[in-house]
Amino acid sequence: ALERTLSIIKPDATRRSITGKIIARLEEGGLRVVAQKRIRLTREQAEGFYAVHRERPFFGELVEFMSSGPVVVQVLEGENAIARNREIMGATNPKEAAPGTIRADFAESIGENCVHGSDGPETAKEEIAYFFSACEIVG
Ligand code: CMP
Repeated sequence: ALERTLSIIKPDATRRSITGKIIARLEEGGLRVVAQKRIRLTREQAEGFYAVHRERPFFGELVEFMSSGPVVVQVLEGENAIARNREIMGATNPKEAAPGTIRADFAESIGENCVHGSDGPETAKEEIAYFFSACEIVG
């Protein structure tokens, strides 16, 4: 089915000026960028976005990192966009990510892993609404 998913290009990627390379991978993989903005998350915005991970030992580090520099938030659209994006990104830990995936090719660690993608239809809806209003998404 035609789906939308939320993508975040993380501060490690904006810092290294590889947002273009990452977006090319997403587009070549069949996903269309139907909304996009470059923003700097406040600590509070990062905490809110990752609220499901509040109890995890890495939560503090995750929030610190995600608010440490600019990010590019995007809505991606395509056939099975949620799963497709996760394939293109590769496993969370770059050491376990398949060759040719964004994380295998560009990410430095499990924490600084270049990209985020929604993990299911419900989360995609919530995560898109966290950053975008309906009129900012142009299909
Ligand atoms: P993401 O898809 O953005 O969702 C939660 C993030 O937490 C995940 O990518 C990782 O970047 C981060 N994360 C997961 N496990 C760890 C870990 N063990 N140490 C640090 N960060 C982690």
